Amino acid sequence: MKVDIIISADHIKDEYLSNKVVVVIDMLRATSVITTALANGANRVIPLLTVEEALELAKQNRKYYILGGERKAVKIEDFDLSNSPLDYSSELVSGKDVILTTTNGTRAINACHKAKRIFIGSMLNGKAIVEKLQDLNEDVVFVNAGTVGQFSMDDFICAGYMINCLMEHSKVQLSDIAFTAKYIYENNSNIIDYIKNASHFNILKSLNLHDDIDYCMQKDVFYIVPEYRNGEIVNAV
Ligand code: MLT
Repeated sequence: MKVDIIISADHIKDEYLSNKVVVVIDMLRATSVITTALANGANRVIPLLTVEEALELAKQNRKYYILGGERKAVKIEDFDLSNSPLDYSSELVSGKDVILTTTNGTRAINACHKAKRIFIGSMLNGKAIVEKLQDLNEDVVFVNAGTVGQFSMDDFICAGYMINCLMEHSKVQLSDIAFTAKYIYENNSNIIDYIKNASHFNILKSLNLHDDIDYCMQKDVFYIVPEYRNGEIVNAV
């Protein structure tokens, strides 16, 4: 199994993805939101690029859809929920379809349509994702959503965590960048200490979203494998 990493949504190219299994990571916070919403009983998450598209779809059945997401890490006007995973409680999302639009995460997911399969990963479901990759035993690309087209330390160490788990029971061939992510993970047992220098971490901190940060850092809280196909994210089979 070959393992590689793409460092941001701006770096995704179709030819890097064809015939590959992809894991999209935006641990702060979009992929943590998606994982939490499905774990708390949402039927599906529909990741859209624009606020306009999201509002248009929600209009079709405003009581049924939950509209969530952010711009500049802040809740969007007329939306139900922000991009805080803590908003996506089972009371609010169970049995509902969540429409989500975020700056980087939903953009990265939509840009991966050429991949063979597209899973959604975070610290919260890292081990579940790894076990799925081990079952499939195909070449993998971890697509880091990054921060407005730039590399982001948080997504990188999250990929390193999954690569580290993957190597425990599989024979893998790492690209240089995949090796580096694993190295960074292994040498930073305190993840917060490492990502405290990340630009997006500091934006969330400046908005007093400390609880979100602590929540997203937790490893393997949920055993679910969200998969994007045909425009929606559901639990993989
Ligand atoms: C994104 O998709 O850009 C992020 O999840 C931003 C955020 O933390 O809200």
